[in-house]
Amino acid sequence: MTRILAIETSCDETAIAIAEFSGPATHPAVRVRSHIVLSQVQLHAPFGGVVPNLARREHEKNLVPILMQALREAKIMNQEISKNKHPESLASCFLTLDTILAREPELNGQLKKNIAHLPAPDIDAIAVTYGPGLAPALWTGINFAKALAALWKKPVIPTNHMAGHLYSALLEPDPKKGGAFFMPRLSFPALALLVSGGHTELILMRAHGKFRILGQTLDDAAGEAFDKTARILGLPYPGGPEIARLAADGRHGAYPLPRPMLNTKDYHFSFSGLKTAALYLVRDIGKLTLQKKKDIAASFQAAALEVLVKKTIRAAKEYRAKTVLLGGGVAANDALRSFLRVALKKESPQFSVRFPVSSLCGDNALMIAAAAYFCGTKKALDKVRADANARLDAHHRYG
Ligand code: KG4
Ligand code: ZN
Repeated sequence: MTRILAIETSCDETAIAIAEFSGPATHPAVRVRSHIVLSQVQLHAPFGGVVPNLARREHEKNLVPILMQALREAKIMNQEISKNKHPESLASCFLTLDTILAREPELNGQLKKNIAHLPAPDIDAIAVTYGPGLAPALWTGINFAKALAALWKKPVIPTNHMAGHLYSALLEPDPKKGGAFFMPRLSFPALALLVSGGHTELILMRAHGKFRILGQTLDDAAGEAFDKTARILGLPYPGGPEIARLAADGRHGAYPLPRPMLNTKDYHFSFSGLKTAALYLVRDIGKLTLQKKKDIAASFQAAALEVLVKKTIRAAKEYRAKTVLLGGGVAANDALRSFLRVALKKESPQFSVRFPVSSLCGDNALMIAAAAYFCGTKKALDKVRADANARLDAHHRYG
């Protein structure tokens, strides 16, 4: 059994999970001992998007309370709580913390007060998101992970955020045991459509950890296009769920909107032209009634989803994918799920398709634990660094 404590702070969710992987390495059972996500979305909403330094400050404030809750829930503290650290060893721990957390004084203070004196919990490794994401937010999580690793003498597994979204599709709830998941054996080659607020990528996978980016967005990410179009319609942030809600009652053929790059031979995407077309449409319509808003939302969503689904199907056929995975915040979109499922089935029954449960579409740390389990590598603490533009294929390029 491998027990991983995972930390995710790449954007505006502060998340910690403690998960146990057991059974066959290729298709383990997962017991979730703790899974906490604290969203800052309300805090950023008035700004219409995530403010990096505000996100960083919130992570700094909330990581220790969330860790304490996670450790309590997981019940994995070694029994010898009475064996608190000797004052001398505590002083040397404090010195280490001062070095690692020189830029996070509040986090340092909270760790010293609440965690430093405790014995190490019973875990095998600490997984932490190193990128892609907002650099200040990523660094907070990374320095926190390093501080815990130094205190507890545990290895750190730096983990790619998009790998997390990809593996979230493989976390299948166990109907017999609440809070438990299966991870089915993945048939390769697999193709993943990852659609989030910051990224839109089509990934080919020939083995765990062997990723090739077939295509990505050349400008706005899919989620970003949903958010910007929502803003144009006067809807609150984050706009993806708002557009989806309105679109459900709208006519998707009401307004002809472009399908950028639908017919290009590559697997890249572009959504900024679609958003601009929505902007001009709203300007030309003038006064927006609720029905018009619904029709625009439906027309926009149909255009965005058509490009995503058609390109995914073409790639699945070209690379003879056995499994198609969907991941990222936009994977919560029901219309995308049914469109993709129906289109894949129509194309060929050989494709098996996997979606994350809706509670795991957004950023969370359980997906980071899963990605770390399947393709993470332990790294020396001084080599663990944030990489705001980390690519999934950075370590495993292949032709
Ligand atoms: O993966 P995520 O939680 O954060 C990033 O890593 O970016 O994705 C957030 C994005 C936001 O743009 C949000 O509007 C979008 O996912 N989103 C949706 C839906 N739910 C969230 N987009 C379309 N339909 C939805 N139901
Ligand atoms: Zn994400």
